[in-house]
Amino acid sequence: MTSTTGHAGAVPVAIDAPRTLRRDRWWVEPLITVVVLGAFTVYATWAAFVNADYYVDPYLSPFYSPCLASSCHHATVELFGDWFTLSPALLILPFPLGFRLTCYYYRKAYYRAFFWSPPACAVPDARGAYKGESRFPLILQNVHRLFFYLILPFPILLLWDGLKAFDFPDGFGMGLGTLVLLANAVLLGVYVLSCHSCRHVCGGRIDCLSEKPTRYGLWKFVTRLNERHMLIAWISMVGVAVTDLYIRLVANGTISDPRFF
Ligand code: FES
Repeated sequence: MTSTTGHAGAVPVAIDAPRTLRRDRWWVEPLITVVVLGAFTVYATWAAFVNADYYVDPYLSPFYSPCLASSCHHATVELFGDWFTLSPALLILPFPLGFRLTCYYYRKAYYRAFFWSPPACAVPDARGAYKGESRFPLILQNVHRLFFYLILPFPILLLWDGLKAFDFPDGFGMGLGTLVLLANAVLLGVYVLSCHSCRHVCGGRIDCLSEKPTRYGLWKFVTRLNERHMLIAWISMVGVAVTDLYIRLVANGTISDPRFF
């Protein structure tokens, strides 16, 4: 940042001013975001396109659930026939991806970390003018409310996958993968419930909450989760990657799945 100074009639002198007066390590948070979010994006893209090792009886990777193509190793519903030759993960990826990409918290995180817009409080934007989300293309972020409704079936589907993970080829049982799948379903469910749109659905557009005790109770519960939305967003994101990785390693024989009974 450069400014000029001088009295009337004097020649202006350029002074190099610091971009920020902050002396703490404000750059640590955006750096962690770049590393973790970048690693997740690369891994999830690879996992969605690789089209292999996503199923080992009875475990199905969350990146491929629900499996909708007849090419699936473990089709949930065969909605798409043989003509669909790409990875079946690509049929469902737009829903969780769109939900996370437009999440209010992730928006803040990746605007700061990747676009430096701005990188931290009291640190200037990397670009000259801030135009916000009031015009194209960022105005499209408002579709988050729509993605909230579209994502609602997914925690239920993942819970179903977790319950099916008790059904081994040799009968009823429970392995570490069963617990991993169930935990992932719960984490996604909590993430969806903690969403700002969910909070609005529960308690929005009401003038007097005390007249709607059920919605008030729901709103209070969701608000408690919403206060931890950032933490929940990170944990659920790491959880889905760990779940896919675990199933992938079991499926390709790198590790074996401990069986409890
Ligand atoms: S605001 Fe983050 S998921 Fe809705």
